[in-house]
Amino acid sequence: MKQSTDWQSARITRITALSPTVREFEITSDAPFERWTPGAHLQLQIPARPGGGAETTRSYSLVGLPDAGVYRIAVKRLAASRGGSSGLHALAEGAALRVLPPHNHFELPPGARPTLLIAGGIGITPMVGMALALAARDAPLRVVYAAHSADELVYADLLRSALGERLASFAGDRGERLDLAAEIAALPADAQALVCGPLRLLHAVQAEWAGAGRPAAQLRFETFGAGGTQPAQAFRVKLPRHGLELEVPADRSLLDVLEAHGVAVLSDCRKGECGLCAIDVLAQEGECSVDHRDVFFSAAERHESRRLCACVSRAAGPGATLVLDDAWRADPAGSELKPCRRAIAAMG
Ligand code: FES
Repeated sequence: MKQSTDWQSARITRITALSPTVREFEITSDAPFERWTPGAHLQLQIPARPGGGAETTRSYSLVGLPDAGVYRIAVKRLAASRGGSSGLHALAEGAALRVLPPHNHFELPPGARPTLLIAGGIGITPMVGMALALAARDAPLRVVYAAHSADELVYADLLRSALGERLASFAGDRGERLDLAAEIAALPADAQALVCGPLRLLHAVQAEWAGAGRPAAQLRFETFGAGGTQPAQAFRVKLPRHGLELEVPADRSLLDVLEAHGVAVLSDCRKGECGLCAIDVLAQEGECSVDHRDVFFSAAERHESRRLCACVSRAAGPGATLVLDDAWRADPAGSELKPCRRAIAAMG
């Protein structure tokens, strides 16, 4: 379903501190309340702040189950915030902002299949509604939830009261560790797993799931679309086909920079999940490594670095430069550009 692009006036009606770094925001829109399903996102336009912070657009998972009249999100203030979490945390109750109607890229599949929900840190936000919905369906369910510290296990009390022993939480500062291999091994053959958390958790689940010989289609991800194994830095890209050499600033994605210079790249999720924006890496120059931030490629493909997802992945290292070849080819019959066969196949 195509997402509406009609921004609606809204305001923050309540702010609750859930932890030292996480605040929950209740948001009321002036437009009629739109019902949504667990996993849905709310896109916000966060207003510019006097003295710094331009208007910013961000998308956050809606928490819980649809509650007429109110949208609820929980936002962790990031140390390296580029304006989203810091902008929201700077707002007070009553503040005005704008929202798009909720949209869902991370739908909970229908039915009551045995399900493992895996959450890392603030990745718990979409899982709260999913867990409540699955419990209401009487689906065999286990929720495993890990955070660096016990005080960052937000919503654990709510989930424990709803799920009882079907919730297992793990606080790093208590020495508790989530054993992914054991969790996956304990699942029945027809089980599904849904995961939301930092990239290293998603990659670890992906590797364990594949190693256990389970079908990839029964594992679903939600990424934050940010944060890699290395800090974001500026890097250069060369595109010999286009005769271009470009700088990708630390605060912009490669995909944004390519699009801004007229290089057409297919894209959809822009979060490293669908693989549509994958482009070929012809060479790496300087002390360069590819910081893969996607969950589309396998661990082996990420290791080979023959392609990268332009929406999230970057180059790292002193003087890092990538030589790239995008998926578009000139139409031999004319001047129009058409996507090559590989890109079309990726769309299927
Ligand atoms: S647009 Fe989906 S992975 Fe880049």
